[in-house]
Order: sequence, then structure tokens, then C-alpha cells
Amino acid sequence: MSREKVLSLLRQGGYVSGEAMSQRLGISRAGVWKAIEGLRQEGYVIASAPNRGYRLEEAPDRLREGELSGSLAGALVGSKLLCLDCIDSTNTECKRQAMSGAPEGLVVTAEEQTGGRGRRGRGFQSPRGKGIYLSALFRPALELSQVSDFTAWVAVAVCDGIEACCHIRPQIKWTNDIVFQGKKLVGILTELGMESESGALDYMVAGIGINVNHGSKDFAPEIRDMAYSLAQILGRPVRRAELAAQVILALDRMYAGYPENKAEYLEKYRAGCVTTGRQVQLITPASRREAFAREIDDQFNLVVELPGGARETICAGEVSVRGMYGYV
Ligand code: BTN
Repeated sequence: MSREKVLSLLRQGGYVSGEAMSQRLGISRAGVWKAIEGLRQEGYVIASAPNRGYRLEEAPDRLREGELSGSLAGALVGSKLLCLDCIDSTNTECKRQAMSGAPEGLVVTAEEQTGGRGRRGRGFQSPRGKGIYLSALFRPALELSQVSDFTAWVAVAVCDGIEACCHIRPQIKWTNDIVFQGKKLVGILTELGMESESGALDYMVAGIGINVNHGSKDFAPEIRDMAYSLAQILGRPVRRAELAAQVILALDRMYAGYPENKAEYLEKYRAGCVTTGRQVQLITPASRREAFAREIDDQFNLVVELPGGARETICAGEVSVRGMYGYV
């Protein structure tokens, strides 16, 4: 853990003396030196100068506590970080932590997921070191019926985080895929836990999978034409820790105003939604119907018009909506 704390101090920039680090972290000078050496062995380039101390010059692209914690000071979301190398699924781990009593604000990340999960029982490919696989734990004091729009708010927050880091604003395919030029960039899986006796909401886990530094070969052939990564869009790699920090900060801002700030999130959702104004297919296991997507109502539901002119309100999770042409 000293290594993460030393890294976090070095991340503040400039030279930091061994003595200052030792005092601030409450560890010995030898402990500081050991942490520096450990970081160097991991690929961090750390300059040292007599009487000045240590300065971080180059850092590998890692999602780890020492890279994130400095940017998240004071935020509830990310107030506890569990940055893992490899896990079955960060959502599953976050749920395990929730069931053992972890506080809200916990964020779990992983370099790789061996059993990444998507909606409707699908998998989510999570190649090592390429994407951001992140789950955040929330325990709002709300009824189950009051949180049905939470995933839509998360989608807006993720767009905010991507915009803050990468200066492009992706769009939202109702309800919660984030797309860019019609291809999927981010998947979101929100899961809930209930108290068994009372049936009250116990926790929510928002799981976010962002395609960051994937090249086309990092996507399986069957999704290659439908998926996009930020590196493909920008033509350069993106530092995942910087992006993860911006996404976590955007989630924190979102949650601080949930549900009072609805007008802001609804407006951003509507402005960024690519589903409205298009012909879509409403897909259930039993049927496939054509409709025209009219608007997003005040509950973030999708209002569609059927061929006869009748209107129907589609609630998240009821049906799958596919654009008729291409992915969106
Ligand atoms: C989807 O597109 O169907 C949702 C994909 C959600 C993937 C993320 S990656 C982090 C978190 N852990 C998981 O197992 N799933 C979510």
C-alpha cells in the first residue's frame, strides 16, 4: 500500500523529497525508497536528484489506486478504491463487497475480466489493459420504484467523463449503450440488491465497460464492425487512469444531485439520444415490431409510435430496441 501512496504523491508533479514523503505517509525513508524501487521495477521512470528528491517522469498505463486517488480527493464515489489485476467481473466483486457491508462510494476496477457480464445474460469482452472495467457501489435512501432511471443518469455521467478527458461527446442509444458514429463505445450494466426481509433497496452497482485502447483485433470478429474504441476515434492512445478518474468524478457529481438534478440530466440525455427520430424495432423473445421512436418522456422512458399511429411507452428492460439501419 505504501507504493500506492508514494505514487499518489509523485503524481502531484514536481520533485518530492524522501523526507517529505516519509513524514506525510508516516513510513520510514527506507520504506519510501523501497516503494520507489518497486515502482521503477514496474516500469515507472522516476528521476532522483540530491537535495530535491524524486520526480515522476514516465508512467505505464495502469488503473491503480496510486494513479486515481489524488484526483478523487473529497469525492464520495471513489472514496474507497479496489483496483484489481484480474477478476471474474467487477460487478460481481462489487456485489460481493456490498453483501459484506462495503460502504457506498466503493469503486472496483480491473485490468482484465475473465467473466465480464453484459445485459440479458450476454458476456462483455474485457481484454487485459485495453479497456476500463469499473463498477461503483451506491446505497441511495430511495424506494426501488424511484431508481428506475438510474442507469440513464449513469449514461449521461459517463458521457460527461469522456468529454472531460477526451474532448469528444459520445451519444446514447436508449437506454444505456454509449455510441459514437453508430458504433458501441461503452456498455453499462446496473444491478440491484434487495433486503430479503423488507424487500427494500439495499444497494445498486453500476458497471461500466469502456473500449479505450482497443485496436480492431482486440474486438471479437462478430462485434468488430459494431464496436469502437476511443483510441480508434482519436487516433492516439488514451491514459486509462485519467479517463477513469474523470468518469468517477462525473459519477460523483451525478450522484450528489440524484434525484434532485433531474432536469439537467434529462436535458442532456435527450440532447444526446440517438434513438429518437428513427425507425426502430421493438424486440421481445416473442415478437419483433416496427415503430418510430418519438421522444424520451420525463421518466427517461422511450415513447414510440406504432404503424397505426398509436403511441406506446417503453420502459427500460421491457424490450430491446434496435435501429433498423446499422447499429443504432
Ligand atoms: C452491455 O453492454 O450489455 C453492458 C456491459 C457492461 C460491462 C461492464 S464492464 C464492468 C462491469 N463488470 C461486468 O461484468 N460488466 C460491467
